[in-house]
Amino acid sequence: MPLPFRHITSTKQFSRGDTDNILKVARAMEKVLEKGGNDLLAGKILAALFYEPSTRTRLSFETAMQRLGGDVITADGLQFSSMYKGETIEDTMMVVGQYADIIAMRHPEQGSADRAAAICPVPFLNAGDGPGQHPTQALLDLYTIEKEKGKIDGIHIAMVGDLKFGRTVHSLSYLLGLYKNVRFTLVSPKELVMPEKVTSYYKEKGITYEETDDLSKGLGADIIYMTRVQKERFENVDEYERLKLKYILRAEHLAGRKATVLHPLPRVGEITADVDPLPNAAYFREVRNGVIIRMALLAMLLGKA
Ligand code: CP
Repeated sequence: MPLPFRHITSTKQFSRGDTDNILKVARAMEKVLEKGGNDLLAGKILAALFYEPSTRTRLSFETAMQRLGGDVITADGLQFSSMYKGETIEDTMMVVGQYADIIAMRHPEQGSADRAAAICPVPFLNAGDGPGQHPTQALLDLYTIEKEKGKIDGIHIAMVGDLKFGRTVHSLSYLLGLYKNVRFTLVSPKELVMPEKVTSYYKEKGITYEETDDLSKGLGADIIYMTRVQKERFENVDEYERLKLKYILRAEHLAGRKATVLHPLPRVGEITADVDPLPNAAYFREVRNGVIIRMALLAMLLGKA
């Protein structure tokens, strides 16, 4: 089941048909993972280039490739690559594309993924470009919502926290916009509201959304999507300290509620540990879905799904 594009840089590139196909392949990959994997991508090499810190995205890409019988080469941190010496993203793609069959890259600059994909000689995946997009995370969020709620159409999602710099909420907004009657409650301090590029997309698509700084307005949603305040994007540390824990979700907030709690992780205090044992807490189940979605994407982009 091929995709109608070679690279994944943004969730704005997907149609509803594309997401249907990706979720279908992911369901099949879940069964493959349950059996420990297969050799679908034997002989293929993934280059995992992570020029910003990552635990989940990097390790799940590596796990996905290895579960499908492929190999992985890696580069960590700008300071340990020739980008530190001034090599451009474009030259890096031309070089790494001679070694690998597919490349996943995380980079601190918004727009770096578009630059990389414009020249990359092999399929390219954006694993997060600064405050821009994180499309593979949004796809695993989508897969998780479908699994947890049994549907995506008609859901009410509350996005909470750093909606300005949190790239996952930007990417997920564009994906959910492909589904019917999805409703958003955007909970953030005024300094960290959803960027205009995303709210204008809601308006263009006729999507219902409300903006508030009151967490209680989001607690009745089907999905509560918590986010970390993105310390690394702040120029003023005092501003970060003032805003970092404005919203803390506690077990008492969920008493008698059916809301499913998601978080792309890492969390740094915005969900207390007493939420973890509740059935509402899906953020660790979501992590495994990251492997499943990335198995599907690697196979599809390599023409093997
Ligand atoms: N969700 C996510 O992108 O986590 P990492 O930063 O650990 O990759």
